[in-house]
Amino acid sequence: MKSLNKKEFDKLREVILPKIKKQLIPKRYEHTLNVEKTAIALAEKHNGKVYDIALAALLHDNAKNFSDEEKLALCKKYHIELSKTEEINIDLVHAKLGGVLAEDDYHVENQDIINAIKYHTTGRPNMSMTEKIIYIADFIEPGRKDFPGLIEARKLADENLDAALISILSLTINYVMDRGLIIDPTTEETYEYYRKKQTPEKEEKAHRTD
Ligand SMILES: [Fe+2]
Ligand SMILES: [Fe+2]
Repeated sequence: MKSLNKKEFDKLREVILPKIKKQLIPKRYEHTLNVEKTAIALAEKHNGKVYDIALAALLHDNAKNFSDEEKLALCKKYHIELSKTEEINIDLVHAKLGGVLAEDDYHVENQDIINAIKYHTTGRPNMSMTEKIIYIADFIEPGRKDFPGLIEARKLADENLDAALISILSLTINYVMDRGLIIDPTTEETYEYYRKKQTPEKEEKAHRTD
């Protein structure tokens, strides 16, 4: 999978930005630029594929501001199956849909970039660095309103991506549970995966004494 260089990215950005600006409400457009900035900073810090990550950031919410009817129609067109949680909250499908549109409307071929868009709301076990950084940047970008745990998540993101993921996944699960809403099983699976990954010795010991 070939990664983008700065020149290629700058060229794509010039074409994509006006299109995204037209498709998104101003607040979402601003969020997109904030995610781009945050994702680039994290990619530089953690030695990620900076321009692939920047492109994923620019496109991650490309399907966000379609109406529910438009989202449903596009899902039908692209044969995207809705999960239980997406059936209840159709907006959640903007991630999967965004991945498909990145390919179809924006001609992205790099599967890592497509996956980062596709999984930016739920996460998934064993994410690539590109996927992790988009998931984290979406949550911690500077435009996000302050709430308990945000400062800690920002700090962790600089130090250790997996630790930041665990913190964000746990905040998300608690937020959803507190409101009596349904948690996407993929989010729970992702949380369990990274929690176990972070404490392998303890898990192993617990296993041995079972
Ligand atoms: Fe999103
Ligand atoms: Fe977003």
